[in-house]
Amino acid sequence: MTQDELKQAVAQAALAYIETKLEDDTVLGIGTGSTANLFIDALAPHKGRIEATVASSEASAERLRSHGIPVFDLNAVDRVDFYIDGADEANRALQLIKGGGAALTREKIVAAVAREFICIADDSKLVHTLGAFPLPVEVIPMARSHVARELVKLGGDPVYREGVVTDNGNIILDVHNFAIAQPLGTEEKINNITGVVTNGIFALRPADVLLLGTASGVKTLY
Ligand code: 5RP
Repeated sequence: MTQDELKQAVAQAALAYIETKLEDDTVLGIGTGSTANLFIDALAPHKGRIEATVASSEASAERLRSHGIPVFDLNAVDRVDFYIDGADEANRALQLIKGGGAALTREKIVAAVAREFICIADDSKLVHTLGAFPLPVEVIPMARSHVARELVKLGGDPVYREGVVTDNGNIILDVHNFAIAQPLGTEEKINNITGVVTNGIFALRPADVLLLGTASGVKTLY
C-alpha cells in the first residue's frame, strides 16, 4: 500500500471509531495536514450528525466550510469531545512531534481542551525516539535569534523556516539533529525559553489513541 492509501485507511478508521460514540451535540476538534484533510473529506457525508467542529488552522476551517460543515471559534463551545489529527512522529507512549504544517500552537490548544485525542498516522511515523523529524518551535518574530541561541545551548540545530508565517503571525524554527530522550522535560524546557510560543512536542498532553496505518491493516495503540 502507498503512504496515501495508509492515510486514507486511518482517516476511515477514525470515522468508524467516533461514529458509535457520536451524540446529538458532539463537538469535534479537527487537525491540520494531509491525513486530517482525508478525515475531513470522510466526515463530509456525515455532516448532518455533527453539531459543531473547531479547527486547528485556517486551512482546515476553510476545508470544513467548503463541505458545509459548521466551524466554531473554540471560545464559542464549552467542550471538545474528540480531537482528530495527524502527527509527524509518534512513539509507543503516544507522545508526538507535530507542527510540520506550522499549526502546532492551535493544535496544542485544541488537544488540551479535548476529552479524547485520536491521532491518525501511517506507520512511517512510528519511532523509538522522537527527533529524527526536525522539531518545530513557534516563536515571536523579534525573539528569533535569542530563541535560536538558546536551542543551540540545548544541543539542537535550529533552522528558520523561510517564508512561513503561522496563523498567529509568528515564525517557525525547526530544530535538527535533536534526539529527544526525555520528551516531557524537553517540552517544558523549550516552552520556558522567553519568546517561544510553544514547541511541537506533545508529551504533556499525548494522544489517547493512535490509529496506525500498516500494510496488514489499521492498528489501535493505547
Ligand atoms: C501540522 C501537523 C500535522 O499533523 C503533521 O505535520 C502531519 O501531517 P500529514 O498528515 O500531512 O503527514 O502537525 O502542523
